[in-house]
Amino acid sequence: MYNSKIIGLGKYLPEQVVTNNDLTALMDTSDEWIQERTGIQERRWVKPRDGDTTSMMGVKAARQAIDRAGIDKDDIDFIIFATLSPDYYFPGPGVQVQKELDIKTVGALDIRNQCSGFIYAISVADNFIKTGMYKNILVIGSELHSHGLDKTTRGRGVTVIFGDGAGAAILSREEDNNKGLLSTHLHSQGEHAEELSLIAPGMGKRWVNDILTDNDPDDVSYYPHMNGQFVFKNAVVRFSEVIMEGLQTNGLGPQDIDMLIPHQANLRISQFVQKKFKLGNDQIYNNIMRYGNTTAASVPIALCEAWEEGKIKEGDTVVLAAFGSGFTWGSAIIKW
Ligand code: UT7
Repeated sequence: MYNSKIIGLGKYLPEQVVTNNDLTALMDTSDEWIQERTGIQERRWVKPRDGDTTSMMGVKAARQAIDRAGIDKDDIDFIIFATLSPDYYFPGPGVQVQKELDIKTVGALDIRNQCSGFIYAISVADNFIKTGMYKNILVIGSELHSHGLDKTTRGRGVTVIFGDGAGAAILSREEDNNKGLLSTHLHSQGEHAEELSLIAPGMGKRWVNDILTDNDPDDVSYYPHMNGQFVFKNAVVRFSEVIMEGLQTNGLGPQDIDMLIPHQANLRISQFVQKKFKLGNDQIYNNIMRYGNTTAASVPIALCEAWEEGKIKEGDTVVLAAFGSGFTWGSAIIKW
């Protein structure tokens, strides 16, 4: 059995900065409320119709990751794309990346695990590499929220949180079993599926035809819904559990963490986890202040930035953790 190792990281954030004050022109909110409850100061939203889509942002992040990995695009054996905001209902963005990067006919898999999407994706990649099936896998987390949010006071509880962006990683075969991804841990709890969800258009409860026929201005079924406090309470518990699960599996404790990269859901959630595990400011990385919550993109963007800033060094124990819609949650323990 092999291990897998991250040999290249990339990210892409759209240029347009949207501050909390910018949002006050659209809805009844305030910089003070948003910062106090979430830690967010600004986020990036794509400019409409300038070419930035979920797949294209993923491609931009992927190009950087491929360059930094020092491999050729034709060395990629498989593509995994995590998102909740695909360009098309089908097919998923994995094949769009394959086309855009002009990669030969390798397999492309789309992952639907929302905020935990990147962790699920690297777990799948890791296991393909472990068995020897593939050698180099491109993993992308990309999200374009801004076109699908309710930008009125009605939607303020959700809309102020989300941002657009993409992150990518190249996972590659590693012969040393003490290096790279040591373990991944995945969980879900479907009984809470609708607590953080976007119901329509879907083939279950609300079809496209229903929306068109009803033409109801009060219909919010095609906007994301979040039971914020319930999600928050579950998040702090599950983050803590799944980080401990990962550490214990590897005979480690919180004191061994060199860098924790939590999914950027809410600064207060990250601070809760930091306090619980008694981590110093140099042992946790947060960028939600600048980018908001970018769902499946948040972990790879934060990981990429922490690495760019020299905060992750060879030999470090790096922990990734995420929680979100599903509910789904997971962690990854990495020896860098
Ligand atoms: O990434 C996936 C996982 N997601 C999460 O982990 C998110 C978890 N939840 C949260 O981060 C928080 O619950 C929120 C940031 C979403 C909301 O913060 P909260 O402290 O739970 O606020 P709340 O929803 O309980 O709302 C408190 C008040 C309400 O007013 P009343 O009923 O007390 O008069 C809201 O209407 O704040 C009001 N409110 C706002 N006011 C100004 C809600 N959104 C806004 C807003 N601006 N944007």
